[in-house]
Amino acid sequence: MKLLVVGGGGREHAIIKKLRENPEVTEIFACPGNGGIAMDATNVDIGAKDIDGIVDFAVREQVDFCVVAPDDPLVLGCVDALEAKGIPCFGPNQKAAILEGSKVFSKGLMQKYGIPTAKYAVFDDPKAAVAYIREQNQFPTVIKADGLALGKGVIIAATLSEAEAAVASIMEDKLFGDSGNHIVVEEFLQGPEVSVLSFTDGKTIVPMVSSMDHKRALDGDRGLNTGGMGTVAPNPYYTKEIAQVCMDTIFLPTVRAMCKEGRPFKGCLYFGLMLTENGPKVIEYNCRFGDPETQVVLPLLKTDLLTIMQAVHDERLADVNVEFDPKSAACVIVASGGYPQAYKKGCVMSFGNVDNLPDVTVYHAGTAEKDGRLVTAGGRVLGVTATGEDLPAALQKAYAAAQEIQFEGAFYRRDIGARALKALENE
Ligand code: AMP
Ligand code: GLY
Repeated sequence: MKLLVVGGGGREHAIIKKLRENPEVTEIFACPGNGGIAMDATNVDIGAKDIDGIVDFAVREQVDFCVVAPDDPLVLGCVDALEAKGIPCFGPNQKAAILEGSKVFSKGLMQKYGIPTAKYAVFDDPKAAVAYIREQNQFPTVIKADGLALGKGVIIAATLSEAEAAVASIMEDKLFGDSGNHIVVEEFLQGPEVSVLSFTDGKTIVPMVSSMDHKRALDGDRGLNTGGMGTVAPNPYYTKEIAQVCMDTIFLPTVRAMCKEGRPFKGCLYFGLMLTENGPKVIEYNCRFGDPETQVVLPLLKTDLLTIMQAVHDERLADVNVEFDPKSAACVIVASGGYPQAYKKGCVMSFGNVDNLPDVTVYHAGTAEKDGRLVTAGGRVLGVTATGEDLPAALQKAYAAAQEIQFEGAFYRRDIGARALKALENE
């Protein structure tokens, strides 16, 4: 089988490594891939948003199955375009990807179907938004751009003046472009966050092992928001009891709601949840695998990934027994100095003894090959991942491996998993 994976980050590297485990897979292309992905797949110099280029390539190469991993091509209708040419895909079509593509849509869906989420209001006029925030007079308050914004479209405003500045920057200065034509103003929720990725074929939903992201750049959850600086799985806050509540009040209702709206969702549906005093609530939906959640979830998946993805496409997920290893996994992101703001690219990398460390996998996120050497090419550079019998063991191995990595300006958080370890101690 010839596969094509759209994307070129750590998430895509993890998906590709897992797909390769299937002996029927003869070739995997990555559009565009990256320096590390090149060791596991054939990179193709076509960007993930170049839908026409991707479709032309897939048709020319007679690709048998395609995985569209990032949000942008999904929201742009990449799956629709490929399937129109007869190429089966894993991923939602454009009508279903709106669940991530528009926060106004997703909040409206949750309200209509009684799915627990933060209280909110929608605005297309900055003055009305500020008047509402003034009247609510509850801080912090949360201001979100409607559309995709590279995971950065959320501003938590501690005061009225911060909120006014946030509304102005999103709606008037267009900080996130047209994504900010509408905004959602919502209630600030508190509690541990949990990421739950799931497989769904529009009828059946199978949650994967839970995980915990670490979004801020610096230790102690300080610094700017990033795409994610590390993850652990499973998430100890996500007990069996909470999982059942989520299945009954969030997961199944969401899948059914999308069908009722004539937008059946097929692919990986990601639930960003907050476990509040009043029960689990949805912070966000993503229409794809999370990054770097995938880097800790897929190493624990025991069932063949391609088999699951094909079953999702064929709408027979109920027939597949999806199993996870009861071990733990931890991923530490090694980033370029300065990330998530300006950083240098092209730094030569060395990997020390990493290849010889047991249970360790280094997923490449922002790397490129230059003159036969691997160099940095992004803010998040590597996702150093390890599995272990328990979370302390996984963390110990991941950090031992992260220490081996060297390039100019390299940094990583030293406290990935610390909050999860505390939760385990209190059990
Ligand atoms: P997102 O880009 O939607 O993942 O949001 C980024 C982060 O903002 C989330 O991971 C949360 O930590 C935080 N956040 C989003 N919405 C809320 C909310 N209603 N209350 C508190 N924190 C929030
Ligand atoms: N790690 C969060 C996301 O993928 O959106």
